[in-house]
Amino acid sequence: MPSVSTFPDTTAGGAATPARLAGILATGSCVPDGVISNADLEQLVETSDAWILERTGISQRHKVGAGVTTSVLAAAAGRMAMERAGVETVDAIIVATCTPDTFVPSTACLVQRRLNLPGIPAFDVNAACSGFVYGLALANSLIGQGAINSLLLIGAESLTQLVDYTDRSTCVLFGDGAGAAVLGPVASGGMRAVRWAADGGGSDLIYHGPKAGEDGAMSGPDGLRMLGKGTFRLAVERMIETVGALCADAGWSPDDIDVVIPHQANLRIIEAVSKRIGVPLSRFMVNIDRMGNTSAASIPIAMDEAASTGRLRDSDRVIFVGFGAGITWGGAAMEWTRPASR
Ligand code: ACO
Repeated sequence: MPSVSTFPDTTAGGAATPARLAGILATGSCVPDGVISNADLEQLVETSDAWILERTGISQRHKVGAGVTTSVLAAAAGRMAMERAGVETVDAIIVATCTPDTFVPSTACLVQRRLNLPGIPAFDVNAACSGFVYGLALANSLIGQGAINSLLLIGAESLTQLVDYTDRSTCVLFGDGAGAAVLGPVASGGMRAVRWAADGGGSDLIYHGPKAGEDGAMSGPDGLRMLGKGTFRLAVERMIETVGALCADAGWSPDDIDVVIPHQANLRIIEAVSKRIGVPLSRFMVNIDRMGNTSAASIPIAMDEAASTGRLRDSDRVIFVGFGAGITWGGAAMEWTRPASR
């Protein structure tokens, strides 16, 4: 593993040295029509628009309606990315999700059926909010080593189905949606470095289950639980370390970074990372105000918005960085290739 000069190295990965470099050829996204505003949440739990905005930066989040599942959102985002890439098939489908439609079969197989792409490998990755960057690490290897020539990578979640709307410390955070990318080998630009890591020792920080009381006893309905402060601190530390490692691997300084696309967990986390790595907040893609935390979907939804609005330009040096339950973290350094026409 390459050495990292100024940051502790907590991640596996390194500079991309495969036979060929993988790049993003097109992007897509889909969010459900339903919206939960902070005012809506004020009706459900003891909270306020002011508290949520100040502590998280979130104004609203999207919520799936009846009959809309993770695979529905994922297939819509994937279809959009494939149409924009101008391809009718791909060599593999990976769906990053922690809210699959069912335990069996995988959401990727359900997406495969919806997109009518039989015969290619399809599987899920569950690395919570780091799922999409784990997928980029896989893409880097699979495409870089020539095992496949194209990949449909989707991050998709319907987290509002897991949320306990009596738990104010978590229910204000999460939303639903999907983002997708078609990846393939590129002649110029592409993935310069990837990093990915996990520490199961932190698995109690964010989990799905009943609530832990002050005496440690678990009670109440299942829901997404989080020890907010501990998670916040680790998220900032690991994301900073990951950006440092990616820059070292790619031979970039923080000044070289044009756009950072971080996991959208909390605006204050993004602000803290920006400050500590010395990259102005204006270079961070932020849409948490409208999306909330969509876990594995947050990075690809933000990426699609950045690509669609012209925020990402040809040859931009882009950092993707995520952190999530597990705990998991990771990222990728990529020279942006002009995506297919949209
Ligand atoms: N409205 C009003 N008050 C609230 C709310 C709410 N929605 N939620 C908590 N509070 C109260 C608490 O009860 C507490 O009150 P007390 O002081 O009387 O005990 C007070 O506000 C402060 O609570 P904290 O938890 O200390 O608030 P904090 O500033 O840490 O913000 C938050 C909480 C938003 C959850 C923050 O810690 C956070 O964003 N953490 C990280 C989230 C993250 O990174 N997740 C990553 C991955 S998620 C995944 O993988 C699925």
